[in-house]
Amino acid sequence: MTSRPIYIAHRGASGHEPENTLLSFARALELGASWVEFDVRVVEGEPIVFHDRSLQRMAQIPGIVERQTLANIRSVKLPKDQSIPLLSEVLHLIRGKACAQVELKGRNSGVVTALTLLQALQNGWDESHFIVSSFDHAEILAFRATAPTIPIGLLTYGYPVSCVENAQKLGAISVHLHLDAVTEERIKQIHAAGLKVFVYTVNDPSDMRELTALGVDGIFTDFPDRAPCVAKI
Ligand code: G3P
Ligand code: MG
Repeated sequence: MTSRPIYIAHRGASGHEPENTLLSFARALELGASWVEFDVRVVEGEPIVFHDRSLQRMAQIPGIVERQTLANIRSVKLPKDQSIPLLSEVLHLIRGKACAQVELKGRNSGVVTALTLLQALQNGWDESHFIVSSFDHAEILAFRATAPTIPIGLLTYGYPVSCVENAQKLGAISVHLHLDAVTEERIKQIHAAGLKVFVYTVNDPSDMRELTALGVDGIFTDFPDRAPCVAKI
């Protein structure tokens, strides 16, 4: 029998609310999500939760996120009267309610995020409630050097040569594949190495069913309410 994958609310319930906002994470919790994913950048040494390099798409104003002051970032208006949250605010909101798949998006986000998650371990979080990933594998190495016991995943686009070997070298517990890169053979290869397979970003229920039949372990979705069943942590 095929086991059921976990569903990870991608940037919160971003199909319903502005992505990576407290509203989006609260909605994901309401919809029963047991995991949420979000993207971390660093502004003036403070880890914040925001996907894009620029403010344009989300706030309709020009500006590179990491070149702003923290005060500027905190004053940015997002749709539905939302603000760009701090990593610490997101962790506070979801603590004890959902696990966190933390994606290191910005440059130099590895160490700062590690320090924040280590602090969270003093405040009721358990290591098993985190998985930290990044397309930037150097950031993952920096993260792991600071927080060696927090689980990490290898985030990929396409299917790089030596994908499994790289994941093993990094000490990852999972490989995160784009939906377009999924094949049965690759899933078998990753599983044979003792690693989990998470797939992003899957919003079509027919894809969810197909991936479940293929035995993937986790599915990122903007619509956690489309998951056939959700379990609390
Ligand atoms: O971590 C999975 C997924 O979030 C990676 O892509 O661009 O949505 O951050 P992106
Ligand atoms: Mg992401």
